[in-house]
Amino acid sequence: MTSSVHANGASSAKDADDPFALAEPVLEGPGTSDYERYLRTEELLALQKGPDQWLHRDELLFTVVHQSAELWLKLAASELEHGLELVQAGRTSAGLRYLRRVQMCLTYISESMPMLEEMTPWDYQHVRKALGHGSGFDSPGFNELRKFIPQLGECLQQGLAVAGLSLTDLFVQAEEYEELYQLAEMMIDLDERLMAWRDRHFRVVERTIGFNVRGTQGTPVEVIGGLRDRKFFPDLWDVRSDLSNLADEVL
Ligand code: HEM
Repeated sequence: MTSSVHANGASSAKDADDPFALAEPVLEGPGTSDYERYLRTEELLALQKGPDQWLHRDELLFTVVHQSAELWLKLAASELEHGLELVQAGRTSAGLRYLRRVQMCLTYISESMPMLEEMTPWDYQHVRKALGHGSGFDSPGFNELRKFIPQLGECLQQGLAVAGLSLTDLFVQAEEYEELYQLAEMMIDLDERLMAWRDRHFRVVERTIGFNVRGTQGTPVEVIGGLRDRKFFPDLWDVRSDLSNLADEVL
């Protein structure tokens, strides 16, 4: 039997007989193994400054946390966009599966924040000197999320209009409109996780550079403190109060 590599890089049956053949890379690209070539580890690991370029060794910690957050946010934005397309096409359950991934991405970026508190506030001041005017307001991933999230509100409004329901009706009759209700709950959950991230981020910022100072783009830290309660879907929070008031009347 002759050895062959298929156009898509898959190995032939011959490879399975030859233990050395499986260690041989079959993919194109830099790196000595298919692991490196597929994940593009050479380029990925070259994306962080090396010791000869550091102003402070904690630049590596800072960059790794930040770059991984950007990757999770990239995935979150992509899954949100796809989830939205499915919901808009009337395939709400399928869309919810992708929106759950967005939830998880937001959880991961929040959970990575404590690593930043491992830097001393003084060491961070050295790292900060390397950032120029770099600011989280220019985060591509966060800005993509911000762009797409409001469209979920439009989907819910359309769903309510088609069913002839008010938001309060939906919550009272949740079981009859299960998919729409699940969408509403997913939305409030995303809102809550975004607020949790903003809260976690603000605490890290306050603990690291203080409250009565400005960020690298001149924003007072108290401004990001004030953004913590910003809600994408205020109606979904207000409806809870409406339900409490309704319960006082009818239950
Ligand atoms: C020690 C670590 C950090 C510090 C001191 C810090 C500081 C700040 C400050 C001061 C701002 C206000 C804007 C300005 O820079 O003037 C800001 C905004 C922001 N930062 Fe950070 N940050 C840190 C880590 C992170 C990480 C890991 C992320 C992950 C993506 C991030 C994402 C953002 C985002 C998205 C905003 C905009 C906030 C919003 O719109 O609510 N930051 N950050």
